Amino acid sequence: MNTPASIDGSKQCEITDSLSRYDIKKIRKFQKDTKRPPDTHLPGDTGWPIVGHLHPFLTNIHEWLDKQYKTYGSVIKFRTPLLKGVYLIGPEANKLVLQNQDKLFSNYLAWEPTFESLFNNNVLQRDFKDHKTQRKILQQAFKRNAIEGHIELMDPLLNKGVLQLNSGYPTQTLDFVKRLLLTAGAEVFLGVKSAPEVDTLNKAFTDIVNATADPLRLKSLWFSPYAKGVKGNKVISRFILSKIKDKRCSEGKDMFSHLCHLRDDNGDFISDEQVKDHLLFLLFAAHDTTTSALNSTLYALASNTQWQQELREEMLSLNKDSVTFDDLDTLEKTGWTFSEALRMYPALVTIPRYALRDFEFNGHTIPAHTNVMVSPLLSHYMPEYWTNPTTFDPRRFSPERSEDKKDFFQYIPFGGGSHKCLGLHFSQVQGKIFLFHLLKNYKVTKDPKMRSYKYNNVPLTFPTDGLPLTFTQI
Ligand code: HEM
Repeated sequence: MNTPASIDGSKQCEITDSLSRYDIKKIRKFQKDTKRPPDTHLPGDTGWPIVGHLHPFLTNIHEWLDKQYKTYGSVIKFRTPLLKGVYLIGPEANKLVLQNQDKLFSNYLAWEPTFESLFNNNVLQRDFKDHKTQRKILQQAFKRNAIEGHIELMDPLLNKGVLQLNSGYPTQTLDFVKRLLLTAGAEVFLGVKSAPEVDTLNKAFTDIVNATADPLRLKSLWFSPYAKGVKGNKVISRFILSKIKDKRCSEGKDMFSHLCHLRDDNGDFISDEQVKDHLLFLLFAAHDTTTSALNSTLYALASNTQWQQELREEMLSLNKDSVTFDDLDTLEKTGWTFSEALRMYPALVTIPRYALRDFEFNGHTIPAHTNVMVSPLLSHYMPEYWTNPTTFDPRRFSPERSEDKKDFFQYIPFGGGSHKCLGLHFSQVQGKIFLFHLLKNYKVTKDPKMRSYKYNNVPLTFPTDGLPLTFTQI
């Protein structure tokens, strides 16, 4: 087999050390000095001239990956004008990459190009010892008492929001869910209620999110999505920094208040800059992902009205108008439904990493400095792990069947290993509360002509037609 030349060992130690200490200067120097390795020895085609595989990436990455997997196996190279690298497919690959036991992969070098100047110093782009320290601090903000406080804030907001639906008329579900979660997010994350302030912050936030998907990144062109995003970052950063002093002196239930009371290992409050960077990223990590998951769930429920009725009965059996932390555990079938929607339509279809050293996978040598991707998509449809994988079947997540537990890395909508989603529980809580109020009040139907879920996956899984569904008051 034709393998690439090996990379200097001392350089690898140096970069691992710089990442562990989050030494940005040294990491940047490494990025500048690095040459991309050849990939001619790896399986896969090169796609179209110039654009490579850009078209399938933007239109139907699932179909493309499936075809490549059947043709080339579990190692598949890819190329787009801005990024090239390799997909590794299946639970074994997910384990190797996400568990990252041998410190083979970096998150910073994979994610920073997306987040630069938009979500600086976030926990997802930290590596090794530095990541462990930051994650340990942040974890305190996801404890039960914090989530209970979030539920108290979230429940009335989501209840009020769903009651504003226009009964009996088709609604663009994507817009509706996006707006509702933004408004709820302003209060639950930032602690902001007043309408003009909510509007300003939501606009700034939307600009930042749009900028993450801008491939050109022209900071100096003020009207480019990227420049608007950088400006949006400044607007929200200024807002957060101006409120920290007050927040540290009060005991709010919003995420901002919780972050202001986080302490490091020495017992000191984390710095204002850390509060700002973490809060901004949590807003981002929570919003579009949950919007995506709820759209997929609503499409699935509109297509399976009998199951929808079973969920409604589960909710009505609670005999309550609002929910608490303990109630949510009893909404078992609702939980399976959310999990099944994320199996079929994972919000994030590519989880990127950057190889720091050469490594072997299924008989292939992947060189250091390769962008390595794992994807929940194919693992979520492998017949070795799932019964009738193309069928919507929430009961596969019931304790009796536990189909998701054959392999620890077969089901990865929330990632896995040390960077596994910190908001996993939060998102399930939010999803259940939203569905509780929605299904108690409305029947959800779709036009019978709509035969399948039309979506694309870049940057996240969203319906391409805005998902027109009809919500009819009961
Ligand atoms: C359905 C909703 C969600 C999905 C599908 C999702 C998915 C993911 C995935 C796949 C990762 C791992 C990325 C990687 O390894 O590169 C991740 C990480 C993360 N998520 Fe989520 N997420 C969701 C909701 C949330 C919410 C609601 C929050 C916060 C309230 C959140 C906070 C985070 C954070 C902080 C990380 C980084 C953890 C670390 O690096 O240690 N997520 N999420």
